[in-house]
Amino acid sequence: MTNSTQSFQAPRILVFDSGVGGLSVAREIQQRLPLNPLVYASDNAFFPYGTKGEAELIERVDLVINELLLRYPADILVIACNTASTLTLPHLRSKLNVPIVGVVPAIKPAALMSKTGVIGLLATPATVARPYTHELIREYAANCQVISLGSSELVQIAEQKLRGEAIDVNAIGRIAQELMRADQAEQMDVLVLACTHFPLLKDELAQYLPTQLKLIDSGAAIARRVEFLLADAAEPPADYLPEHLAVFTKATEAAERLAPALTSFGIHQQAYLDI
Ligand code: DGL
Repeated sequence: MTNSTQSFQAPRILVFDSGVGGLSVAREIQQRLPLNPLVYASDNAFFPYGTKGEAELIERVDLVINELLLRYPADILVIACNTASTLTLPHLRSKLNVPIVGVVPAIKPAALMSKTGVIGLLATPATVARPYTHELIREYAANCQVISLGSSELVQIAEQKLRGEAIDVNAIGRIAQELMRADQAEQMDVLVLACTHFPLLKDELAQYLPTQLKLIDSGAAIARRVEFLLADAAEPPADYLPEHLAVFTKATEAAERLAPALTSFGIHQQAYLDI
């Protein structure tokens, strides 16, 4: 290793979610920016977010992000959680100096992509109910019929999958059926996976949904945005090896069982805070 490689610090990206969902976004970021170190932070102590009240969630995200940024100063913060982003972005942006990229439902690309004008929205119950989400629909999908379904069960199943546990594929089938029972669902041609946990179950979901239905999420667009914001940063030396870290807000056995899955995302170290 040369001295320049040792002393070089590539911009660090803090990717935050309630649980493992943000890994679906981290994966896209790593594909575009393989040399930037990631701190992947999971607020497992307060998981799941999708069933929490708005005031308590704003307060919690504020607390955890502040603590994370103190311990792991970052050049860019990605709120890789639709449930948190659709609620807390204005508040976080008003308080923090670090550039923040939020993940919100991909309603706009879905509406542009749809030929039938019927699109689906699969998210947490909180994201489905958020005024922010309704505003997105009004602004970008006013001419579309939007079929929405909120599910916390799918969030739990994604966590189980990444812990290497057997998952209830029948439950995924039931959720897909519920979505397809809605009025005009047979015409739906684009389904927005508006919870970052759901792309981790894309293959399983696809098995129970019509083959012509396109499943889309915001991951790739977020990675492009992060790349754009870091475009002026110095290029790391070619042999630069970024070290990634996963941080949890509580030490639990369940979090330890994520080690193999984290390794598959190039994250070999786990740290635990107590927030
Ligand atoms: N991954 C999160 C999202 O994108 C939320 C999951 C949860 O904690 O309910 O909405």
